[in-house]
Amino acid sequence: MDEREELQARTDEHIWFHTIDLGQGVVTKGLGGHWHGPDTFPDFAGRSVLDIGAWDGYYSFLAERQGADRVVALDHYAWGVDFGARTAYWNDCIARGALPDHSRDLVDFWAPELPGRRGFEFAASVLHSKVEPVLADFATMDLAEIGRFDVVLYLGVLYHMKEPLTCLERVRAVTKEIAVIETEAVHIEGLEGSSLVQFHAGDALRADFGNWYVPTIEALHSWCRAAGFSSVRTILGPPAGPPIESESRRDRLGRRISGLPRRTKLSAPSANYRAVVHATP
Ligand SMILES: C[S@@+](CC[C@H](N)C(=O)[O-])C[C@H]1O[C@@H](n2cnc3c(N)ncnc32)[C@H](O)[C@@H]1O
Repeated sequence: MDEREELQARTDEHIWFHTIDLGQGVVTKGLGGHWHGPDTFPDFAGRSVLDIGAWDGYYSFLAERQGADRVVALDHYAWGVDFGARTAYWNDCIARGALPDHSRDLVDFWAPELPGRRGFEFAASVLHSKVEPVLADFATMDLAEIGRFDVVLYLGVLYHMKEPLTCLERVRAVTKEIAVIETEAVHIEGLEGSSLVQFHAGDALRADFGNWYVPTIEALHSWCRAAGFSSVRTILGPPAGPPIESESRRDRLGRRISGLPRRTKLSAPSANYRAVVHATP
């Protein structure tokens, strides 16, 4: 086995969310993640960056590579929750037609040895990175402990929050110059311009019981303004022409678990997408 093969083999021992280029032709086999173009991010050079919900650190390493002065990768849930045990419990809930008790995540499924952080640590060591990991629940931590940052990345986190407005206020509190907020969003045909938020109790959205609120782009702007950001700019907005979606098997299951009625004539065709805004204090 040559050096590259040996590194790839060690890389493959981890389960990856992000696809990260570790150099020498070695790339992590990421299972998830949304990859954004260069317009998504401001200039990182010389700035301090806080990456909230960093997971394997793809965006933290990107900021570092692009010249950020200091990068903090903060996470909590994906680093400490034993996803195998939690998924077994969720599958059992689906079989019973029940909604999960989310308080079990940090009690019954919490693994203090942080198995979900091993990927980040491995990538950081291979990349000789100086990104600083911080284990903290951003929704509840003492913000004085983390301080303020020029650029704050809040990517793929908002729809996981039970209290999105409060969390955006907290993002605002730690942002000096610009917050990049990326979230699942919805475009509802015929209701363009309306500030609406969908609420999911079941797992209809990406088979994840932890996906709660999905805003229209107008609601996302309103949330950010209400949270104290003085200006909000859409970087990635709704698609031009949403397709009419038929109800998938998983959507139908989620609807039944949530006790929702079958779609009526009043329901408008909708398309989910990932929105990105830049919010400035
Ligand atoms: C869908 S992943 C997005 C990961 C990455 N930011 C990206 O865009 O590819 C959501 C991340 O947010 C983290 N997260 C969720 N709730 C959190 C909280 N209260 N505090 C810190 N991180 C949180 C999860 O652990 C997970 O790493």
